[in-house]
Amino acid sequence: MTSCLAVGVMSGTSLDGVSTALVRLSDDPLEAQLVAFRQEPYAAPERGQIVDAIARGGSKDLALLHVALGERFAGAILQLLAETKTTPKDLAFVASHGQTIWHEPGRATLQLGDPAVIAERVGVRVVSDFRSRDVAAGGQGAPLVPLADVMLFGHPERGRLLLNIGGIANVTWVPRRGIAAGALAFDTGPGVAVIDAVTRRLDPDAPFDRDGARARRGKPRSKVLDALLADAYFSQPPPKSTGREHFGIEFAARLIGLVQQAGGSDNDAVATATALTAETIARALERWTPLPNGPEIELVISGGGARNPVLVELLAARVRPRPVLPFDRLFFDGEAKEALAFALLGFLTICGKPGNLPAATGARGPRVLGHITPA
Ligand SMILES: Nc1ncnc2c1ncn2[C@@H]1O[C@H](COP(=O)(O)OP(=O)(O)O)[C@@H](O)[C@H]1O
Ligand SMILES: [Mg+2]
Repeated sequence: MTSCLAVGVMSGTSLDGVSTALVRLSDDPLEAQLVAFRQEPYAAPERGQIVDAIARGGSKDLALLHVALGERFAGAILQLLAETKTTPKDLAFVASHGQTIWHEPGRATLQLGDPAVIAERVGVRVVSDFRSRDVAAGGQGAPLVPLADVMLFGHPERGRLLLNIGGIANVTWVPRRGIAAGALAFDTGPGVAVIDAVTRRLDPDAPFDRDGARARRGKPRSKVLDALLADAYFSQPPPKSTGREHFGIEFAARLIGLVQQAGGSDNDAVATATALTAETIARALERWTPLPNGPEIELVISGGGARNPVLVELLAARVRPRPVLPFDRLFFDGEAKEALAFALLGFLTICGKPGNLPAATGARGPRVLGHITPA
């Protein structure tokens, strides 16, 4: 296959909704061009249903959610096709990441959203379940975006750091665009997951700390920050990945409890969660990425967390003199990056090529990822 059109579907750990990207892909040289992008937020009850299924769902809940999410993704894809006047027969495939229900690094990772439902409703073959093969090969199953970072978003002449701040934050060090040797990637810890969970616990109607408004009015509690920074995940060397299982509701409850004990306000709790995210990213870069501390190495940020100005300011102050650059300024809407990356991974699978970066996941070797459901 030399050139084709595909849809990538991503629904990240922040549980904010479903992102779909229409992508033009080509081989030799490998290229992926964003044609259109859409985001559909989960309604609050929908998000609640997923959170409940994750926390205490029985087999019936999970089976029903698998089908319901398949319908949800299919609906989002059809909407994208309608808006872009694209017909299913123009598509070579759909690549669907699925909604992560459980991620236990190196042991098991499960994404729901039945590909059979998507194939049936959209009428296009579906590549799905990208992570399990990497886990079977001894890897973490995550992060999987690094290969896209290396192939598409690295600097053409020098090193570059790419940081995606979704629910979980992950960083990729690319020595040079297209060069996988020497590349390194891992999850630094929470992206917006803890900020979101703290905000929602304090105000159940707020999906997240919009524009960092609460963090701006609060003050991080340094003793609490120190206690949280002692979490073993942060000192663990890569390859490593994490999820809501570790940095979710319970972690947020602990943070709020500690801030309250210290006499802090609700906004102080959000400020502390925001400072924790910035600090853990900065420390991870200092400790694990092999880069000269020169101003020529830029940190390119994407994901919804890049829309939180307080988080970005804290991070920029911490990594100075290294410049922090929004992904949008170099490429396209940073929130579309992961959906596009999965379209690229689907393309590699269809072409019979590996999609994991063993240095990032710890897998025994490169593997062709995913399952293919025929149209
Ligand atoms: N205007 C904003 N202000 C603050 N945070 C924002 C804003 N827009 C998006 N976000 C954050 O981005 C998150 C979604 O990011 P996303 O990259 O989609 O994560 P994921 O891939 O895990 O779903 C939201 O939960 C929220 O925390
Ligand atoms: Mg999202």
